[in-house]
Amino acid sequence: MPPRHGGNLVWAAAIARCAPEELLDFSASLNPLGPPASVVAALHHGLGAIRDYPDPACTALVQALAATYALDPDTLLVGNGAAELLTWIGRDCAACSRVYLVTPYFQDYGRALRAFAASVATIPLDQVRHDVQALAAKLHPEDAVILNNPHNPTGHLWSRSAVQALVATGATVVVDEAFMDFLPPATSQTVLPYVKEYPNLIVLRSLTKFYSLAGLRLGYVVSQPERLRRWQQWRDPWSVNALALVAGVAALGDRPFQEQTWQWLAPAREALQRALDQIPTLRITSPSHGNFLLVTTEASVLPLQRYLLEHHRLLIRDCLSFPELGERYFRVAVRQPSDHEQLLRGLGQYFGVSISPSQLLNVKAE
Ligand SMILES: Cc1ncc(COP(=O)(O)O)c(C=O)c1O
Repeated sequence: MPPRHGGNLVWAAAIARCAPEELLDFSASLNPLGPPASVVAALHHGLGAIRDYPDPACTALVQALAATYALDPDTLLVGNGAAELLTWIGRDCAACSRVYLVTPYFQDYGRALRAFAASVATIPLDQVRHDVQALAAKLHPEDAVILNNPHNPTGHLWSRSAVQALVATGATVVVDEAFMDFLPPATSQTVLPYVKEYPNLIVLRSLTKFYSLAGLRLGYVVSQPERLRRWQQWRDPWSVNALALVAGVAALGDRPFQEQTWQWLAPAREALQRALDQIPTLRITSPSHGNFLLVTTEASVLPLQRYLLEHHRLLIRDCLSFPELGERYFRVAVRQPSDHEQLLRGLGQYFGVSISPSQLLNVKAE
């Protein structure tokens, strides 16, 4: 059975009959420029830290985050990936009358909410994509909503003021900004600065995607101190390991890596999108502000996924974990031009396209 999450290289390598590291992974949306060399060097340097228990307050990383985002350190809680913090979000949301999720939604929301028997209601993305009023009108202060901005898997971006309209209802609003770092500061729609003002706002963030640290597990939440103190008491005191703390501080300090990523992403995403658009059976459903593209096809993508693994050692993300999308969608990460060529070669052969990958990638914007 295919994995429910992207990046399951062991499963994919068994189908491709190769070692996991020989696969070209388009399924997990990780920054191809990472992990930053500064982080790798800091990890080498910091190896001695594995001897002792890690700092349960994650002091150095909390200070670095507070300085980077101009936040009060008391409003920060670091976790073993955003996924760990989603568990505690699930617990708080379960105490609300109803939790609204925008479909399709990241499957881990379901896991965290089911764990605490939350009462879940859904609203389709198409109803709130351009106007959150349809959702705001449903919300009471005793409700909660989890919004993912930019949205996985479509890459849709809500403006800061749209999110604020939800927060103003008084409902508990969780904004999962796991992919927000990919937007340069000038276009970022982060609502981190609103946390001070709104006790009902919880902002969830991850270092996994932007810094390519999926295996280390590192995320954080920004919310009111009273809420975070409660979560701190419930959880494992050492959930964030010593090396993750070292890596996090180094990553936040690496401004050149951040700039490089911002310069790389938009042109790389546009070139890949234009190339995919040339393949007749494929369609990109909406403009993406993330480091991934959601593609729809005329038939099930499962045979395509298998073909790309068996013949090209390429892994794309089927969207079975987003039940509203079904089998006719796949998601690909934006990577480097040479990786895009390989993807386009595989897709071109599968769909019988005669144009070469480099020609596809050189299609100019209209
Ligand atoms: C929208 C979204 N939020 C959160 C996460 C979890 O991130 P982390 O690796 O920090 O647990 C993911 C990972 O795929 C994600 O796609």
